[in-house]
Amino acid sequence: MGNVITVANQKGGVAKTATCRYFADICVSMGKKVLLIDFDPQASLTKGFGLNPELFEGVNEGNICNIFKQESVSVINVGDEDEVLHLMPSNRELGIVGQGNIIGKDLMLRKFMKKNRLSDVYDVIIIDNNPKFDTMTINTILASNIIVTPVVTSKDEQEGLHGFFKNTEETLSTFDHSIKKMVIIPSRYNKSTKVSKEYLSIIQEDTIPFLKEECPTISEAEMLVTSPVPEKVAFPDASSYNLSVYKYLTMYSSESSMKKDKREKLVSLLEEIVNSVIK
Ligand SMILES: Nc1ncnc2c1ncn2[C@@H]1O[C@H](COP(=O)(O)OP(=O)(O)OP(=O)(O)O)[C@@H](O)[C@H]1O
Ligand SMILES: [Mg+2]
Repeated sequence: MGNVITVANQKGGVAKTATCRYFADICVSMGKKVLLIDFDPQASLTKGFGLNPELFEGVNEGNICNIFKQESVSVINVGDEDEVLHLMPSNRELGIVGQGNIIGKDLMLRKFMKKNRLSDVYDVIIIDNNPKFDTMTINTILASNIIVTPVVTSKDEQEGLHGFFKNTEETLSTFDHSIKKMVIIPSRYNKSTKVSKEYLSIIQEDTIPFLKEECPTISEAEMLVTSPVPEKVAFPDASSYNLSVYKYLTMYSSESSMKKDKREKLVSLLEEIVNSVIK
């Protein structure tokens, strides 16, 4: 299996979708063939490319729900010329199909990816998740070999993060599925607030000991807490142009109010994070 990365956390608004976007663009900039899978019925990743999710509802070859019927799903080219960046878009029906009584429904995405040999076609597959721990999340975990978990550096987040790890552990052990990497990305870090600093050190110091103590299956993987990604207006600004923060800062830098040195610093930080995940 190549790199199949699920970007997951059962908490909302932690930068899952933003992380998928910059991961994809950085991998593409390295010359990799990338597939983005939007596995969130909210379809934020799909909308982020300026696409209307309603277009993919119903009997439609672009409907991601076909995965649950073991039928094919077409992808959309969302890359520039000379790039391989494809998107499997989502729509609200994905939230309904997952609730149905389908035998082996937790393994449908993995089966689909295997049948269509997606790991042979793409160097990197990046999957976005909804902010829950449900059938959709279980499907993406069982289809992946890397879990990337963005977590916001504020005080009441740790309990939720531990809950996510425990649910992930139970999923991996129940299905006897192993991953090669578990990566935690402290996100939306604000170094000027005391609480953000405090929580960052809690994540840095306590996460891996917690995993080692409570989550034996996850602990078999390489575990990594990356440098924090700062809270920057460039993230929402990039979204307003339907761009990832990476592309916004590198190719559309004249639109950004960030100074050149700050821009370059953020770009290298994001590159460093992606490198540490896919190396
Ligand atoms: N480092 C950052 N600095 C500032 N804003 C950020 C940063 N990362 C993400 N954001 C913003 O935070 C909001 C939530 O981000 P995003 O949509 O990626 O989160 P999510 O975890 O995918 O949310 P959901 O759970 O709803 O799917 C967005 O408006 C995004 O632009
Ligand atoms: Mg999202």
